[in-house]
Amino acid sequence: PPLCPRPVPPPAERPPPHAPPRPFPGRTGADSRGCRELRIGTRRRHPSAGSHTVVLLLEGGYDVVVVDNLNNASPRVEGRILELVGEEAGKRLDVRVMDLLDEPRLAALCAEKKFDSCIHFAGYKAVGESVEKPLAYYRNNIVSTLNVVECLQAHGCKSIIFSGSCTVYGNPKDVPIHEGSDLEAINPYGRTKLYQEEMFRDLCVSDDAWEVSLLRYFNPVAAHPSGRLGEDPKGIPNNLMPYVQQVAVGRRAELSVFGNDYPTPDGTGVRDYIHVMDLAEGHAAAVDKILAAGGKLGCVAYNLGTGNGTSVLEIVKAFSAACGKEIPYKFAPRRPGDATAVYATPSFAEQELGWKATRTLEDMCRDQWNWASNNPYGYEGKPEEN
Ligand code: UFG
Repeated sequence: PPLCPRPVPPPAERPPPHAPPRPFPGRTGADSRGCRELRIGTRRRHPSAGSHTVVLLLEGGYDVVVVDNLNNASPRVEGRILELVGEEAGKRLDVRVMDLLDEPRLAALCAEKKFDSCIHFAGYKAVGESVEKPLAYYRNNIVSTLNVVECLQAHGCKSIIFSGSCTVYGNPKDVPIHEGSDLEAINPYGRTKLYQEEMFRDLCVSDDAWEVSLLRYFNPVAAHPSGRLGEDPKGIPNNLMPYVQQVAVGRRAELSVFGNDYPTPDGTGVRDYIHVMDLAEGHAAAVDKILAAGGKLGCVAYNLGTGNGTSVLEIVKAFSAACGKEIPYKFAPRRPGDATAVYATPSFAEQELGWKATRTLEDMCRDQWNWASNNPYGYEGKPEEN
């Protein structure tokens, strides 16, 4: 049984969909029977989703253990998290620098902590890189997930929230996409995500005590409204919003818009951009759900998107308005492997998790710009040497 069983609150007592998670009486402190949440580190899967979720979980009264190999995250993030949550809540954060491929150390940690649940954020995520280095993707994404699942299971935890991706829908035939839409992977990165999902489905069929939430992220952007946490990719950004941000602060000369001949209203690709705070709240809602499910959740996938499709040119326009500058851009050929339009039907997550994204495109651009203008060179505060 879970270490701290919690009754499922009747619907009337549930928090409104967008409220921060409530504090959990009796969950604080270092009591060895206290509920613990394992949040496993980033290895490049939208680095800032993890840190924003940790802030919400600490504010919500959880004990949080972070495992991160700092492959694509700055050691300064921990200090910023502590600054945001304050000293008392900060005592419930335990950061371990460790690689998930290091199974013996991971097993020792699981034995020590006796986790109630785990949010597994880790994974490489660049499509182009995955085509060049498929084995690195299979090893890093699949082996690390196997290690996590086996170590958790060996130490009494059969509960996991997995950072999935809308990449498992491939090039969707119809939008908006619902959780029952066809699954298809169109590149090695996508295949690692799809195979991990399949592994979780097989696991839950083999053992109905396992509970797995597959959170299929759409396109996370923006930053904590304080401007203290945000995405800080190393090297040239692969993704649109960090690239636009770097053009705005003068680190890059202009944006290349990949393709202006798509069958979309302005010819550029359409995506479902979601504020990272909404995404973090989606994780907090998934944690609440899985801990309240009492071993009965099974394996469930949720789309974490807004339901709105936004084109590349609409992003450029909205970001220009937020930062008060023109964003120079040029049209370039389509990027291989890109889909035309990808956006979600998020109603299942709303119904099942009581969660809904509330922040607008304007909010996303404002918070992205606030982060960018306060941290033009990310956490390190200086240009990269290479
Ligand atoms: N784009 C540009 N110029 C750029 C970067 C992107 O025009 O410099 C365009 C793309 O062509 C696309 C849109 O902006 O139309 C969004 O591209 P991103 O790279 O920001 O995001 P993707 O939708 O391609 O992919 C992202 C992650 C994937 C993940 C997917 C869904 O990179 O890992 O979201 O989760 F699978």
